[in-house]
Amino acid sequence: MTVLNNNFLWGGAIAANQAEGAYNIDGKGLSLVDMLPAGDARKLPLFNPAKGLKQTYDYYPSHESIDFYHHYEEDIRLFAEMGFKALRLSISWPRIFPKGIEQEPNEAGLAFYDKVFETLERYNIEPVVTINHFDTPYYLAEHYNGWYDRRTIDCYVNYATVLFKRYSRYVNYWITHNEINMILHIPYIGGGLIIQDSDHREQVMYQAAHHQLVASSLATKIAKEVDPTNQIGCMLAAGEVYPHTCHPNDMMAALSKNREQYIFIDVQARGAYPTYSQRMFKELGITIDKQLGDDEILKQYPVDFISFSYYSSRLESGDPEVNKQKGDGNAFASLRNPYLEASNWGWQIDPVGLRVTMNQIYDRYQKPLFIVENGLGEIDHVTSDGKIHDVYRIQYLSDHIAQMIEAVKDGVPLIGYTSWGCIDLVSAGSGEMKKRYGFIYVDRDNEGNGTLQRLRKDSFYWYQKVINTNGEDLTY
Ligand code: BG6
Repeated sequence: MTVLNNNFLWGGAIAANQAEGAYNIDGKGLSLVDMLPAGDARKLPLFNPAKGLKQTYDYYPSHESIDFYHHYEEDIRLFAEMGFKALRLSISWPRIFPKGIEQEPNEAGLAFYDKVFETLERYNIEPVVTINHFDTPYYLAEHYNGWYDRRTIDCYVNYATVLFKRYSRYVNYWITHNEINMILHIPYIGGGLIIQDSDHREQVMYQAAHHQLVASSLATKIAKEVDPTNQIGCMLAAGEVYPHTCHPNDMMAALSKNREQYIFIDVQARGAYPTYSQRMFKELGITIDKQLGDDEILKQYPVDFISFSYYSSRLESGDPEVNKQKGDGNAFASLRNPYLEASNWGWQIDPVGLRVTMNQIYDRYQKPLFIVENGLGEIDHVTSDGKIHDVYRIQYLSDHIAQMIEAVKDGVPLIGYTSWGCIDLVSAGSGEMKKRYGFIYVDRDNEGNGTLQRLRKDSFYWYQKVINTNGEDLTY
């Protein structure tokens, strides 16, 4: 008998806005990322979304990406060859509602996902669907200031209802928003927010987050009405924050930083804002504008499972001077942990942190967990005979899966593991192609050159073995 259940959902994860391309095909409207360039120009504050369409760049990586839109059959066949039981993918909101405000969906967009789900079904691969993965229609950002405007809730609910009605026969697992806490770190991508210098930043972000939370609960309600077997999850960009030292002030600072991420899951899993939020909001000088009925909706429709991404732990000090040394390798700024190594992008590598994080989340909520992102973004080299020897990626994944299994032995119920970017795709943070996560290499570079040919990396065969042995053989 293996530690993991026989129905454990091994697989990989992609997102529409980073994989599909075909940005203006078959009636699709603009996504937030369709306005973003690659590289440093993408980073705030260099990128000024307020200028929107008036600001143009030479190259937009999402416009073609890896063209999953036209390669989905080949890609799913490769996932099946690895033995995938699940594929986490997202639906492009502006492919279904080009501006977000329409009443009727775009049939051509819906038909594309019919074909994707049928193909997955043919290979017995369970779809895990993110309804909104950094993919609010750009129109809503431009005209409503994204999720800051309460009307965006109605647009989302209309969109989600269409998805539940159309796809519930294929889909059991739904995730309402990708990495909901990211709205605090990348507000444009996370919430379609165009924040002006004169705005009270936290007020805008937490108000928008409240609207996302209400929308998530309303979607949960509808999903159950359409099909009571639908399983709905929230999604957190997780990673335990450790205290910089054993100084009590550092411990308190780490606790507060952890609450900055858990506040959203406290609402989605327990159905109410936690008591600590009152002081937190007061100190930030913000007031959440709630409408009558919001609290009841949040209370009545919590999520069924908690999904999360894990790339790294973080480090926080209680001393503001020390915190000035934080690096921004990740969307989360963190102090350097002297016990950890880091990737070429400065992301610190902490497999044990995954076990810590899983135990913390489960202790807190007692709901099944689902690891829906984990992986190593690195530069790969293709040898003259077309091979990619990505032992660094295998090592990263092997170490993390080993700790995941330890957490399951600790008693944490886990639905599945879908590693991020199972096929190379465009980086959300930097827009680069050379930051690769995949088991499958895609011939495309940072400037958009390449044949789009797919190649199996060494990690492809390694992951095939891991799935085949249900995680018992992680050797390489
Ligand atoms: C998560 C996102 O934050 O991390 C993904 O959900 C993203 O969309 C992934 O791609 C890795 O980040 P990056 O910046 O390396 O693409």
